[in-house]
Amino acid sequence: LRDSTALAEWVSRTRAGIGEGRFPARAFNDEAVYALEQDRLFTKAWCFLAHESEIPSPGDYVTRAIANNNIIVARDEHGEVHASLNMCRHRGNVMCKSEMGNASHFRCSYHGWTYKNSGELVGVPYMKEGYEGRLKRKDWGLVAVRVDTYEGLVFGCLDPAAPSLEDYLGGFQFYLDLYLKHGLGGVEVHGPPDHWVADTDWKICAENFAGDGYHTPVAHQFGFNLGYFPSSGTTHSQGWAVSVPGRGHGIGLGHSPDFPAFGGFPDELVAGMKEAMSPAQAAVFAQTRTAVGTVFPNLSFLMQPFSLVPGQPGVRFVTMRLYHPVGPGRMEMYSWCLVPKDAPQDYKTEAYRAYTLAFGQAGTFEQDDFENWTKVTRSAASGLVRDLDFPYVMGMESEPDPDFPGPGHAVRPYVNDTNFRTLWSRWGDYLAGEA
Ligand code: FES
Ligand code: FE
Repeated sequence: LRDSTALAEWVSRTRAGIGEGRFPARAFNDEAVYALEQDRLFTKAWCFLAHESEIPSPGDYVTRAIANNNIIVARDEHGEVHASLNMCRHRGNVMCKSEMGNASHFRCSYHGWTYKNSGELVGVPYMKEGYEGRLKRKDWGLVAVRVDTYEGLVFGCLDPAAPSLEDYLGGFQFYLDLYLKHGLGGVEVHGPPDHWVADTDWKICAENFAGDGYHTPVAHQFGFNLGYFPSSGTTHSQGWAVSVPGRGHGIGLGHSPDFPAFGGFPDELVAGMKEAMSPAQAAVFAQTRTAVGTVFPNLSFLMQPFSLVPGQPGVRFVTMRLYHPVGPGRMEMYSWCLVPKDAPQDYKTEAYRAYTLAFGQAGTFEQDDFENWTKVTRSAASGLVRDLDFPYVMGMESEPDPDFPGPGHAVRPYVNDTNFRTLWSRWGDYLAGEA
């Protein structure tokens, strides 16, 4: 993809291919594609920044990123959440160098300009003697990033003209609630995220978590064989793949007829869960054992049972993960465990243990996945592989299930490429500048 014309032609060919059930290997590891994603996707889409429970008190902050922009997400003294570019307006120094903490102000380590955590410039050394009235503090605050929230999820958007977060989510909120409305108090993070860098393209993870039930009985077969994953390969293919056409979000809802409705949660929590959800959501939830979904482009959720003692009934945990691209075929992974605020402490501890064993940084399922994902990424950069397409034709003829109680495009069985075609179509819209 030597120049912009070749790149534009490749994007156009790729978009046509997605409609026919093909997707090119090159997309998963290519410098020009990476640069285009930075310019046209991550600077235009709503991107996840933080969960509100990471910054519960005034002054709490975390530093995160959208594309190659470092961002401070802070709660001000009035409780309001702000996102500001982590860059001093004087000469561009990085303001805040730690990943999390509590501060009412940030003082630049270069010449000492000082900002409130809301971004306002309040201190300039030698203001009178040096600037002699030529510098207006109100004009030189930290650059504000647009933020909006849904049920505790804080998103940021670098495009002032982009539609609202509500519009962007486009009805996928129905499915997000399956992870977030675990009781009337909602959920909170259980400690800071696991955070590491991987030689993996973010899109492989986004696709996998948009509902790749196909890999589970193979890549994670130890879980079935040893009794950690209370399911079987056969039941795993049941359920639905649900996507939001035109938005790119997708979720796989794995169903096991023998898995009890609301199983894996403490009984005292279930009444609150049913009350927090709508009857339609509770009906979907009752039929769901594993729910694995991606909010386009790079935020995913998973709820699944995992047995702490092989053969015992599983504890259901929730993980939220962000795949932040940092180069072609390379990303920073953030992985959180979410627990219901109202749950008994014993359950929170058990859920966190189950999460850590399965999907923490050294988790068994996590290792299974990355073993495959890094290989896929490496292959995609090779001379022969990069110009090949992969088949995305599973479920091309699937008709939406008219009896499914939730919104979106729901097809059966869960093992299906429909969600991935929807995901990559949306990606193609952004890369073509037509989102
Ligand atoms: Fe921050 Fe000069 S770069 S005060
Ligand atoms: Fe997996």
